[in-house]
Amino acid sequence: MSFPKGFYWGGATAANQCEGAWNVDGRGPALTDVTTGGSVKEPRYVTYIDKDGNPQKMPSMGAKLPEGAKYAVLDDCYYPNQDGIDFYHRYKEDIALFAEMGFNMFRMSISWSRLYPQGDELEPNPKGIEFYRNVFKECKKYNIEPLVTIHHFDTPLYLEEHYGGWKNRKLIEFYDRFAKTCFTEYKGLVKYWLTFNEINNTVMFLDMFGNKATDQMYQEAYQHLHYQFVASAHAVKMAHEIDPDYVVGCMICGITFYPATCDPADILLNRHTWEKGIYYCGDVQCKGKYPTFAKRLWAEHDVHLDITEQDLIDLKEGTVDLYTFSYYMSTVVTTHEVTDKVSGNFSAGARNPYLEYSDWGWALDPKGLRYYLEKIYDRYELPMMVVENGLGAYDTLEEDGTIHDPYRIDYMRKHIQDMELAIEDGVDLIAYTPWGCIDLVSAGTGEMRKRYGFIYVDKDDAGNGTFDRYRKDSFYWYKKVIASNGADLD
Ligand code: BG6
Repeated sequence: MSFPKGFYWGGATAANQCEGAWNVDGRGPALTDVTTGGSVKEPRYVTYIDKDGNPQKMPSMGAKLPEGAKYAVLDDCYYPNQDGIDFYHRYKEDIALFAEMGFNMFRMSISWSRLYPQGDELEPNPKGIEFYRNVFKECKKYNIEPLVTIHHFDTPLYLEEHYGGWKNRKLIEFYDRFAKTCFTEYKGLVKYWLTFNEINNTVMFLDMFGNKATDQMYQEAYQHLHYQFVASAHAVKMAHEIDPDYVVGCMICGITFYPATCDPADILLNRHTWEKGIYYCGDVQCKGKYPTFAKRLWAEHDVHLDITEQDLIDLKEGTVDLYTFSYYMSTVVTTHEVTDKVSGNFSAGARNPYLEYSDWGWALDPKGLRYYLEKIYDRYELPMMVVENGLGAYDTLEEDGTIHDPYRIDYMRKHIQDMELAIEDGVDLIAYTPWGCIDLVSAGTGEMRKRYGFIYVDKDDAGNGTFDRYRKDSFYWYKKVIASNGADLD
């Protein structure tokens, strides 16, 4: 068995989790810059000054700024995204290491507030434009194809504070300008674009709150999503007009849901969970219209959306060229009482007795990846990319500078084997860019010690360390995998 000729092998990152340099060369702040570090037990907090001038913090998941408050950086807090892993200053070294592994694709994102510091300006920040041009040129030097996420969890803070973020239709206009700038400035340097990272999280994660998620929260989340769908459709159309060779994809947080029992109520719940969590966004972005079950989903929470006739036309005209997704784990759903609950990556469910779990409680399930690939390919018949996958684990830097991570190799080997089987079954899978190919700040917990990389970065959860890079055992293993186009997985 081997992978198709020309298959893309690489790795994935996001600007807010790796660049650092949060206030350098004119960059404006994003929400992640006022978000503290947490852990598997302790949430991350967003910090602010309340209307009476007191410093405050609130859990970042579902955070809503109180009336009259202002986001703020507090002296006694550490904000891990602010310095990230300093990719901003070390990108040449990092891209050289990716090239050494044999990458022919590198997924990264563009920080919106580096190009438009507030988000609502008419002209971009030249220093920001220059930075990404240099990064793309560096990739080209090694024949690495950039795969660029336009929006990866980092709406400029100013837009959050002054416009209420994606609840506001105005955001579409600002995003359109940002996306157009990317497409025109980087023409000839980039071919593959993704409009929004894990767009489906906005609604999917609300189910984690159980009954505490109010109808108002769903109303805002579905509206937020609608505006992002329209912005995404505009981006696809614009991209094709600017360069017909551009290929634009959606990016879905891919969770494979299983029913816990064969109770018909569980089977139906499982179907509805796929619809709400996975198909709702995929259908709009791939088919260009809301699915029939959307009406049921809205009615469940008394949701009434601002959708114009023009929006519906735009959605139709802006369908994506490819389906990309992240895949880390599967989840079990049931209508029966759950005594052993597990959660991870924006979803929660019952523990699966047939699977093992990572130290962060994420189910290890390579077959779930094959299942997802085959199910989704059947639905849309679009080329697919696995643009995130990997094992967040504790690593030890030995005195001699080595890092032995057989657990990571084992995880990836099994996932690659199941990708191969899906390809044999006819899935048009064209790329694999595992997450955090170089250690970076965890999105969920803000930790550094939750490491995914082939490359170790010497930085701890408090921001201490040299930031030096070290090759892990998995680095050499992945190099062999790429050199053999997936044939040598030993
Ligand atoms: C995805 C995100 O949800 O999972 C990434 O697109 C994130 O930004 C990744 O880092 C892994 O999650 P975590 O919480 O382990 O960083």
